[in-house]
This record gives sequence, C-alpha cells and structure tokens, in this order.
Amino acid sequence: MKTIAISVQKGGCGKTTTSANLAAAIAAQGKRVLLIDNDPQSSLTLYSNLEREKTITEVYRGTASIQDIVQDWHGIDVAPADILLSQVEIEIAGRKDRRDILRHALADLGETYDFCIIDTAPGLGLLSVNAIMASDHVIIPMEPNPADIWGLELFMSTLNQIKKAKPNLTYRILLTSYNDRLKLHQSAKEAAERHGLNLYPVTIARNVKTAEAWGAHEPLLTYDPKNKNNITYKTIAEMEIAQ
Ligand SMILES: Nc1ncnc2c1ncn2[C@@H]1O[C@H](COP(=O)(O)OP(=O)(O)OP(=O)(O)O)[C@@H](O)[C@H]1O
Ligand SMILES: [Mg+2]
Repeated sequence: MKTIAISVQKGGCGKTTTSANLAAAIAAQGKRVLLIDNDPQSSLTLYSNLEREKTITEVYRGTASIQDIVQDWHGIDVAPADILLSQVEIEIAGRKDRRDILRHALADLGETYDFCIIDTAPGLGLLSVNAIMASDHVIIPMEPNPADIWGLELFMSTLNQIKKAKPNLTYRILLTSYNDRLKLHQSAKEAAERHGLNLYPVTIARNVKTAEAWGAHEPLLTYDPKNKNNITYKTIAEMEIAQ
C-alpha cells in the first residue's frame, strides 16, 4: 500500500478537496483506496456526508481498528473523524509511540488496499506528524501567492526533520486555485521553481463546480465529469500509481 498525506501548515488551501478528489481519481483507475479524515474539523467527513459514530479517534485510542470504522463513499473506504479527535493530541502526547500510532494502525491492514490518502488538519501538530510518519509521500497543496511560498519554509524544515527518521519520504507541491492568466500566479510559480521546490507539472484551477461538488457530497468526477480539474486529478493519480 502506498500512503500519501495531504498536508501543509496553512488553512483553506485545498487539502480536503484534493484528498477527496485524488482518492476518487485513484479509485477510478481500479485501485482499492482508503481515505482517512485525520482532522478534528472533520471537513472530509462532512464532504462525504458520513456517520460519525465510529471514527479515527477510536483508532488513536486503540478501541477500534481502521476496518471497524470505514464506510463506503463512491467505492472508496473512508475513515471518518469527529471533534473528539482534538483531545487525542493531548492524550497521546506523553506516549513513547506518539508519532507512530497511525503508522501502526495502517500496518495492521496488510494488503487490503493499494492506496491510502490522509487528509490532515492545517498546522503541524502531533496528528499531522502521525499522518506524515505513516506516509510514503506528502502532497503539499499551495495557493500560488508569493507570501504562501515563503510560508512554506517552516513546513519544509519540519518535513526535513521527519525525513531524518524516514529517509525515503518524498514530497511534491500542488498549486491549487491556479489562474494562468494572472501574472501574480505565474510569477509565484516561477519563484517556486527557482527556489528548487518540487512542483507537480499540473495545477488545480479555481472553479465553482469544484466547490459545489463538496456541497453535493460527490467527487468532482461524478458531479461534473467534464470539469478540467478532473484531468489534473487523473494526471496526479497516474503519476502516483506509476511511482
Ligand atoms: N479548486 C477549487 N475551486 C473552487 N473552490 C475550491 C477549490 N478548492 C477548494 N475550494 C473551496 O475552498 C474552501 C477550502 O478548501 P478545502 O476545505 O479543501 O481547504 P483545506 O486546506 O482542507 O482547509 P482546512 O485547512 O480548513 O482543512 C472550500 O470551501 C472548498 O470548497
Ligand atoms: Mg481540510
């Protein structure tokens, strides 16, 4: 199983939207996908409109396995979250294995899934560290603004610290809400490339249907099959399957 965390310290830059739609794009390639909501805000759980009776909180607490909590959403197994997950960060802080709880829970799954996508909360708290420690790859969604590119420094230094314990961890930045007609976005993209940041060759465009799919609790792929962002999610899915 290949595990990908969608993570960055900044809020509202498309982590949850990317998680849901990339998971759908990978599933559309015939892969068995597990999608984990690792954020106490539970945006992904709201997006997929799932029950919150048994959630990832229980997995962290050791009272349920991932298989006990998953629910089907368009052919994807989703592990929902709830607000109690915010307490988990405090509960596990003193534990020796505090960074490895999610990694161990995923290891218990064996070969049940081909892919696992983890949506994280903004910030770099212990929950996000668990997600990254459990992952092979990190997708960093970022709006193409110069200030956001500078803001990446903190995140990258934490990521590089984690890389010491996980040398094979890879990352790539995905520009979200990209408008190729805006000079600001073009120059932000060029600046990121100049700074040697590893960018996906494709970008997510801001469009109403992508936001509306959320309200309809559907992947963009079924809500608006002709949307150009579907081509981007498919390209990323194919890249991640190939690597
Ligand atoms: N490509 C897009 N086009 C239009 N709207 C978008 C796009 N991507 C995300 N949005 C909207 O922007 C808002 C923030 O997106 P999203 O929730 O995915 O960000 P996030 O990084 O997960 O936020 P948080 O940090 O709070 O978890 C949502 O209302 C979402 O519908
Ligand atoms: Mg989110």
